[in-house]
Formats: sequence, structure tokens, C-alpha cells
Amino acid sequence: MKFLTIKEAMAQGKGSVSVRGWVYRERGSAKVKFVVLRDGTDILQCVIKRDIIGDDTFAIADKLQVEASLELHGEIKPDERAPTGYELQVKDFTVVGESHQFPITKDQSSEFLLDKRHLALRSRKLQAVLKVKAKVLQAWREYFDGQGFKEFTPPIFQPSQCEGGSTLFEVKYYKTKTFLTQSWQLYGEAGIFSYEKLYCISPCFRAETSKTSRHLSEFWMAEMEAAWYQLPELLDSAEGVIKHIVKKVLEDCQDELKVVERDVAKLQPAVNKPFTRLKYADALKLLEKKGMKVTWGKDLRTVEEDEIVKHFDVPVIVTHYPKEAMAFYKPPVVEDGKEVCLCVDILAPEGYGEIVGGSQRDLDIERMTKELKAMGEDPKAYDWYFDLRRYGSVPHSGFGLGVERVVAWICGLDNIKEAIPFPRTMLRWTP
Ligand code: 4AD
Ligand code: MG
Repeated sequence: MKFLTIKEAMAQGKGSVSVRGWVYRERGSAKVKFVVLRDGTDILQCVIKRDIIGDDTFAIADKLQVEASLELHGEIKPDERAPTGYELQVKDFTVVGESHQFPITKDQSSEFLLDKRHLALRSRKLQAVLKVKAKVLQAWREYFDGQGFKEFTPPIFQPSQCEGGSTLFEVKYYKTKTFLTQSWQLYGEAGIFSYEKLYCISPCFRAETSKTSRHLSEFWMAEMEAAWYQLPELLDSAEGVIKHIVKKVLEDCQDELKVVERDVAKLQPAVNKPFTRLKYADALKLLEKKGMKVTWGKDLRTVEEDEIVKHFDVPVIVTHYPKEAMAFYKPPVVEDGKEVCLCVDILAPEGYGEIVGGSQRDLDIERMTKELKAMGEDPKAYDWYFDLRRYGSVPHSGFGLGVERVVAWICGLDNIKEAIPFPRTMLRWTP
């Protein structure tokens, strides 16, 4: 028997089909059982009638519970009353795996659902979100592959920090210790001297103590690094890939965006309009007009980022942050008598936070050594990184995009935990 996916069966629209999947909903009477079947593609209402399949088989249908797995054969036809516009009149079915009192029902607490995440993954919402995430990753690869970039596979065990020692996860490594990666950047910088333009999609780990709706301890970062790129090329590249990602999701994930009830009109400007570009100094002026005074030199906080994006319907590219708030590898320049970095953060519209962080890379070994010492780091551990400046140094730049933050924005999720199958935070690391 050839099985069609529910989507394929509905595309066929009429005639004889075989489908398989899980019971999403069920209800029935003494004569008829309605089963809404779910598979990896959609849902389909199936009708099992006693007078068609006989008393014995109907008795089995009558006992079916939510999430039992089934193979069904019957006639499909359009039906306006059915949830997805089609109905299967079942002629025959087989129970593949029974289910008994599936623990997830309506109106359970979000903590309970996180405890049962291995089962909650089957929900239509999570299924839709994770399909959007797959599309985001595909679109990232498509964009950079099309521009001559190559995918790079850096290590996850890394001996030193990249984004500040306080959020490092230490791991026992044979008889010594090492850390889980916070960012692949330093290794990407080594790679560009070989094949110039590369990207990587990797899990990243940060011991974040902030319990916010935007922070995970384990998240996926998509990073790129390119030889010869300076800040302007970097900004174009980041804007280009975000536009491509949103465009692809809008084109290919219409059903999923419907399931998550996203107002797609709010995403369209990110495809059609240029992103807003602001320097940190301009951002402070905008904030001051709104009565939010930020002392020069401080990184922008969530409330301030949220205030900035309120004024625009596209992502906001903020550049030239003050050196004192920035990582050791971001090179300073002097503007209006102040030291600012050739760096960028991109803020998502509607208050979904920072989705991209990146910069041109500092080439000055002495300055970086000083910075590292000031942070309490041993510059010797970075000697391999400084080698990259010693042998044919070139200007280069890169950025990292927070994959779950982008998914949270595109799907309009309240919490970043909805954008990853098994979230890890300070308070949650199971199942
Ligand atoms: O801004 P970040 O810290 O930049 C870097 O790590 C650079 N080394 C990247 C580079 O230049 N190659 O992180 C990049 C992005 C952030 O903008 C944010 O979207 C996401 O990664 N991110 C997180 N997402 C979820 N949970 C966390 N704890 C995150 N920390 C950063
Ligand atoms: Mg950042």
C-alpha cells in the first residue's frame, strides 16, 4: 500500500487514499467516530462509520485515544465543515501503536508542558515553529552558498573565552578542563585565511544568569566571517541574509505562520524596505527625546532596545558602540573625540531583541593584549589567535545571528523557549 502524506492526500482531493499518523483529536457516538489525524504535514478529519466497517472493527475505533498511531484507507473528498477542508471516509484502518491517556490536555501550565516536552513537541504550534526554524537555517545556507561562502566546522570544546569569562561553561576534559563554545568566531577568523568566506551553524553555550524570555543557556548561532570585508560590507551582508530569511519563510511557510497566528503584514517591511541604520550616538539622542537618559559608554539595555525599535517597522542596525562596553576583538576608531567600535548589533522589530552581533576585527596585537589583561585573561592563551595577525593579516569581519531569536521574532513567540525543541536555561535542563 502506498501511503500519501496528509498534504499530498488533500492535494489529490478526491478518490481512494491511504494515510498514516497520530490521533490528534477524537470524538464519537454509537454509530460514528471522528478522528482528526495528524502527520508531519497537516491534519485531516477521518470518519469511521459502524455500518461501513462493521461492529468488531468499530469497537476498536471506539476505544482509540489521543496520540494512538494509525494507518487508514478510504475515500477523501472536500468538506467545508472539516478543520482543513477535507474529510476521509474510512474503509479500513489498523492501529499501529496504542495510546493510553496522553498526559497533555488543554490548559496545562507552561512548566508542566516543559516537563513533558518530549510529548509536547507533537503540538501543532511547536511543529509549525520548528518547521519555520528549519526554513530559517535552509535560507541562511542558501544565501551564503549563493555568495561563494563555504560551511565550516569549528570545535565546540574551546580553551578560552570569546564573549566574556563570566558566562563560560567549564567541562572536565580528561585530566584537565576546557569550555563549551560561546561563539565560533575566533576559529572562523583562522578559517578565512584558507578559504576567505565561510559560515557555521553551531550550538553555543552561555551560563546566562538572566532569566529572561530572550536567553537560553544553549542556543544555535549562525555565524559568518569574511576576509577583506569591512563594516559596510558586513552590514549589507547581515541585512541581505535577514531579508532572504524572512522572504523565504513568507513564501514557503504560509501554513505554519497561520498555525502560530502571526500577523504577516508586520514581517513584510523587513523584506521590502531598507533597514534603519543608526549610530549608537544617534540612538542615545532618540532615547533622550523619549525621556530615557543613557550615560555614554553603557551598553544598551533591553528596555532601551525596545524603545528604539518602537519607532520603526524594520530591523534596526545600530553601529559604533563605545569601546568600553565592547569585546576585546572589536577595533576602536575615534569619532567626535570618542572611542567607538566598528561593530554592529541588529535589533528585531516589535521588541524581540538583539538578533545579530558582529564587527570588523581588531588587527592590533598590542591593544588586544592590553584588553585581555584588563579582563583578567592570560594573553598567552590567545597566542594562536595573534598568529593570524602575524602571518599575512588582512582586514576581515563577521557576525553571529541568534537563530532562536530570529525564529521568536518571525513566529511572534512570547518566549525563546518555544523556538528550540528542548530548552536549556538556568532553571531547566531536562528532559
Ligand atoms: O552578540 P553576540 O554575543 O556575538 C558574538 O558572539 C560574536 N562573537 C558573533 C560574531 O561576531 N561571530 O551573539 C550573537 C547573537 C546575539 O545577537 C543574539 O541574537 C544571540 O547570538 N545570542 C543568544 N541567543 C539566545 N540566548 C542567548 N543566551 C544568547 N546570547 C547571544
Ligand atoms: Mg551582542
